[in-house]
Amino acid sequence: MEQYIIKGGKPLVGEVTISGYKNAALGIIAASIMTDETVKIENVPNISDINILLQVIEQIGAKVERVNKNTIKINGSKINSHTVDMDYVRKLRGSYYLVGALLGKCRRANVALPGGCNIGSRPIDQHIKGFEALGAYVKIERGLICAQSERLQGAHIYFDCTSVGATINTMLAASMADGLTILENAAKEPHVVDVANFLNSMGANIKGAGTDVIRIKGVSKLHGSEYSIIPDQIEAGTFMFAAAATKGDILVKNVIPKHLEAFTAKLIEIGAQIEEYDDAVRVRAFGRLGNTHVKTLVYPGFLTDMQPQMTTLLAVSSGTSIVTENIFENRFKYVDELCRMGAKIKVESNTAIIEGVEKLTGAVVSAPDLRGGVALVMAGLMADGFTIVENVEYIERGYENFESKMQKLGALMIKVDSDDIKAIKKFKLKVG
Ligand code: EPU
Repeated sequence: MEQYIIKGGKPLVGEVTISGYKNAALGIIAASIMTDETVKIENVPNISDINILLQVIEQIGAKVERVNKNTIKINGSKINSHTVDMDYVRKLRGSYYLVGALLGKCRRANVALPGGCNIGSRPIDQHIKGFEALGAYVKIERGLICAQSERLQGAHIYFDCTSVGATINTMLAASMADGLTILENAAKEPHVVDVANFLNSMGANIKGAGTDVIRIKGVSKLHGSEYSIIPDQIEAGTFMFAAAATKGDILVKNVIPKHLEAFTAKLIEIGAQIEEYDDAVRVRAFGRLGNTHVKTLVYPGFLTDMQPQMTTLLAVSSGTSIVTENIFENRFKYVDELCRMGAKIKVESNTAIIEGVEKLTGAVVSAPDLRGGVALVMAGLMADGFTIVENVEYIERGYENFESKMQKLGALMIKVDSDDIKAIKKFKLKVG
């Protein structure tokens, strides 16, 4: 089992370049098989969630060519199966986008029910509602979502809750339905816009993405395209918070500052200093930061994917802070681990009450999921002494070159196999 060993207490200083957005890339890669022509996609993050999805589309007949580490070409002309039921696909959340893509293109899809981080019950009723409204017959059978239809017909759909996944999935299928589809109460997140822009670059006719009403005029064919994925707002936010947490100074490059406004506002509120540039933000912090209240909300509210990093930062800020999680009911699992490091946090239902402590102390902790895991690394970077973060595979699902980006900023951390006693000893001797 691989783990990170971290020696805390050193400010992170320097520049970091943000990779392409995982959650946009998942939708875009699924969309790319909807045309028989080749698409070229740039700024694709080289992370395990994306590489699994690429493997999955190859298994059903797509041709995937890696032009370089972050650029791929996909050709979906030879798709020969509508069934996506490999073992590894169940680990992935974004695999559900293949239902919308295959249904749109082939009018048929059988896709293993999605996995992903265990952060709540994560139903897919709104995805099904979208497909059914377009005329598909949908059933869950033997662990698969099975959807099919002779013909997809545009429809007026009002989602019962705002769901990124259901918005993107329905948009994929509706792009190739007959007539007009109107999605109301649609998600407005940047990755919804990015997938819509990509589909439009392939000849789809989607208007209004980024607002809560999206209008899609179905087309009978999509064509090849060249596209570059937007930067990952969560990776950017994570490095911004890591700068503040370690009292460091980081220039976070290749970002869209507008997508980071909710994080920027909170950082300024608690006393960090932010400078915004066209495509970069600089975050600095001096001394102990202050307390605040945070509620996770849909975009442009404070993103649930940054909630663990926020709570971790507040764990060492002065005073009492309150963080309320409104999107996923099981997203405080990392808190027990933080408490092992000396944090004083009480979770009641969907609210964490945080009594800021002066400092954390290193401990052996286990990443419970992707964002909870990265928050524990942040905690290790702030803590006195050594922290071991187990289950790093969660973190690698969503952060490209995480360890080396951190090391370049001065973090004293390495990834080692837990059995490699020699490497662990050597690291400890080196960093004292
Ligand atoms: N929901 C339903 N029914 C549905 C779909 C969603 O009730 O059919 C509920 C969910 O239970 C949740 C809320 O709606 O309470 C929002 O869920 P959403 O569908 O927006 O989330 P998702 O598509 O499952 C994506 C990201 C998550 C991110 C959320 C919210 C991907 C693959 N995942 O999940 O990312 O937290 O949107 O922004 O895009 C992560 O990257 O670590 C991650 C978990």
